[in-house]
Amino acid sequence: MTIKESTREQWSSRLIFILAATGSAVGLGNIWKFPYITGENGGGAFVLVYLLCISLIGIPIMMAEIMLGRRGRRNPVDTMRLLAAESQRSPRWAWLGWIGILAGILIMSFYSVIAGWTVDYVYEAAAGHFVGLTAETASAKFKGLLNEPWQLLFLHSLFSFMTAFVVARGVKAGLEKAVVILMPALFLLLTILVGYAATTGYFMQSLDFLFKADFSKLTANSILTALGHAFFTLSLGMGAIMMYGSYMPNNASIAKTTLIIALMDTLVALMAGMAMFPLVFANGLEVGSGPGLLFITLPIAFGEIFAGSFFGTLFFILVVFAAWTSSISLIEPGTAYLTENTRLKRSTAAYLISFIAWLLGVAVVLSFNTWSFSFPFAGTVKTDGLFDLLDILTSTFMLPLGGLAIAIFAGWVMRTEFAFQELNLPNKWFNNWYFTIRWISPALVILLFLHSLGVF
Ligand code: PFF
Repeated sequence: MTIKESTREQWSSRLIFILAATGSAVGLGNIWKFPYITGENGGGAFVLVYLLCISLIGIPIMMAEIMLGRRGRRNPVDTMRLLAAESQRSPRWAWLGWIGILAGILIMSFYSVIAGWTVDYVYEAAAGHFVGLTAETASAKFKGLLNEPWQLLFLHSLFSFMTAFVVARGVKAGLEKAVVILMPALFLLLTILVGYAATTGYFMQSLDFLFKADFSKLTANSILTALGHAFFTLSLGMGAIMMYGSYMPNNASIAKTTLIIALMDTLVALMAGMAMFPLVFANGLEVGSGPGLLFITLPIAFGEIFAGSFFGTLFFILVVFAAWTSSISLIEPGTAYLTENTRLKRSTAAYLISFIAWLLGVAVVLSFNTWSFSFPFAGTVKTDGLFDLLDILTSTFMLPLGGLAIAIFAGWVMRTEFAFQELNLPNKWFNNWYFTIRWISPALVILLFLHSLGVF
């Protein structure tokens, strides 16, 4: 094997690891994606399936992924190869790492385009452009942005550069400082927004929408979307969390850490929903209006509240940062692979991987305005444009299947004693986890897939 000597960095403490992994998990997936897919998929029943996926599939697989990363202490390709060898299994498991690196680049290509929109909204808020917005003018403003390819390209490039810049500097210098202040600030601001939403008179209706399960609204596709989103929002199934685990100190508890991360991630998503849906109902907006939901609802609110331009600017700055602490984890696996296996410096590797994602992102930018297409994909799933295609390909297929492979590896391929050593749990808890990762999580992923693809 051609792995450079492991003189690797480590997070300074368990708290920093929790913050960094939460920074990866909490991002556009929580604040932008969760509310709009919940709207598109009919509310409560979708949220329930999503929460079940987080608890029965996401949490056990996150423990497995962190555990593999910390034991391998390398990029995902070499970690999988090394751990397979340690248990006398096929080196082909390295493929799982490769697919992860690819998924990270594919997700990054559209993630930075959407993050670019949030950068634009920082300016819009600061310039006072939210004042007096109505449902119509807010929608028109958002559509106007999508029709400006050059502006979108500039924003996409700016965000791609910001990501590469941090990754180039390495985990400590680049990342630790950002997360310590930003995560708590985001939390606080979301709380203020939920408080404001509670004054609109539509809060109860929103809670009903979010938490009252009406299973007649649940389609086979919604179930698969909920499963995919559980992986996306927790950054699972592609080696990002494995990478972060590889920098984790040996003495930190993987189980406790995982629970905290999953809890915070879920809380932020639900709070984003509770902040946005009252505004949707109060302004007669469409719940299923798609990816523009965040960019249409919240500006209306900021236009109305006291010191709205100030709070609006602050809010969108925090969303940019939430996206930033996530995007760095998307290109970290590829960057670490190149740094650990070639003569490239870490910074060159980071810029190279970002450049590849950026190129594909240029096509995504165009797909929002000048270049649109739609075609059927995998039977029942229909895609609408390149963004949709990449989103469905990665979130709905690559991440859950990557997660399934991680579960199978941790539960069936790796020797039990290694997993036991690494997780360091009391027997009873280890057995519960082991049973779940061997049987429940894989079976659920497979069943949900077969059901959604119309097999039963
Ligand atoms: N979890 C991030 C979010 O919710 O925005 C997105 C993400 C980051 C997905 C890193 C996958 C990943 F590896």
